[in-house]
Amino acid sequence: MTQSPSFAVISGAQVHEAVTGREAQVTDMIEAAYRLHGEGATVNPDSYFLRFPDEPANRIIALPASVQGDVDVHGIKWISSFPGNVANGIPRASAVLILNDTATGYPFACLESSIISAARTAASAALAAARLADARGERPRRVGFFGVGLIARYLHTYLAGNGFDFDELHVHDLSREHAEGFRGYLERTEKGTVTIHDTAEGLVRSSDLIVFATVAGEPHVTDPAWFAHNPLVLHVSLRDLSPEIILASYNIVDDVEHCMKANTSPHLAEQRVGHRDFVAGTLYDVLVGTTVPPADRPVVFSPFGLGVLDLAVARYVYDRVTESGDLTEIPGFFHEMKRYG
Ligand SMILES: NC(=O)c1ccc[n+]([C@@H]2O[C@H](COP(=O)([O-])OP(=O)(O)OC[C@H]3O[C@@H](n4cnc5c(N)ncnc54)[C@H](O)[C@@H]3O)[C@@H](O)[C@H]2O)c1
Repeated sequence: MTQSPSFAVISGAQVHEAVTGREAQVTDMIEAAYRLHGEGATVNPDSYFLRFPDEPANRIIALPASVQGDVDVHGIKWISSFPGNVANGIPRASAVLILNDTATGYPFACLESSIISAARTAASAALAAARLADARGERPRRVGFFGVGLIARYLHTYLAGNGFDFDELHVHDLSREHAEGFRGYLERTEKGTVTIHDTAEGLVRSSDLIVFATVAGEPHVTDPAWFAHNPLVLHVSLRDLSPEIILASYNIVDDVEHCMKANTSPHLAEQRVGHRDFVAGTLYDVLVGTTVPPADRPVVFSPFGLGVLDLAVARYVYDRVTESGDLTEIPGFFHEMKRYG
């Protein structure tokens, strides 16, 4: 007889405990998930965007997915973005993630998922930075953070956790208060010099590795000449760069079909030229060595964000919390279990 299905709830505090200090391990997990995705051992349909006609800045996105291999789980992340939250003192994004059993389909856990989402986003971008920089022959020592909220902070942690070491750290944000707050954070954790730039151009021209993590809905960086020093760009917020800059760069994405949606900068570039030949390949192609990035052009990584990455991290967190004996199960969550009562 099948064991009666259980259901557990995992808090943000438990997720934090499970992933903090394990940046290299989480990055390995993300690399394994990308490899499974590249080998066709995943299902990752389009994300579904719930939008509100009278609140265009807000959205809630559903990311259903399935991963085979050791991860062996189905599930969905349900993540809200309400940028106005920040002014009221709470984070922009909030999320839950449901894990489903692959044998029965039963949901077996609900996890707080804003930390999982930030960790997988940062791990994915840091992995791309490491592989792209190593393939180009040099790790950048001047980093620039363009838009400095929670995602930028996680990016910094994961770059450090993947062996990046910086002499210069540059910061630009529309909000002086946010820029100052992030500088304070960097000065507590880094030995390199930290500089705030009032202009976007100053930040871009001063940095060989640039992390875009704004909430811009439309391109606001438009001059390809700012990128003449051929930086490596982690375009995590996806909508900052104009089509001209995308078209003048060597572009790597996480998944071509996913990235050519929702008016991302690569999507706008595709609409401009009517093809997607400007995409050199995916991160999987870089991992397996079929795409080798040049050192004499700007290289832009635009990750749409795949649900399979969230599932890989969530599965790991679930297993760790279970091993530690701290799993909080909800008694009687599934109740109508006898067919005829
Ligand atoms: N690709 C992915 O997989 C993925 C995953 C998670 C988050 N994200 C994206 O990362 C971004 C950042 O998320 P967050 O939680 O850190 O947001 P946040 O609201 O905490 O921080 C964003 C910061 O960007 C600044 N900013 C906004 N527009 C700017 C502009 N034009 N120039 C300079 N600074 C600007 C804001 O002042 C703020 O400090 C969001 O766009 C989010 O959608 C992408």
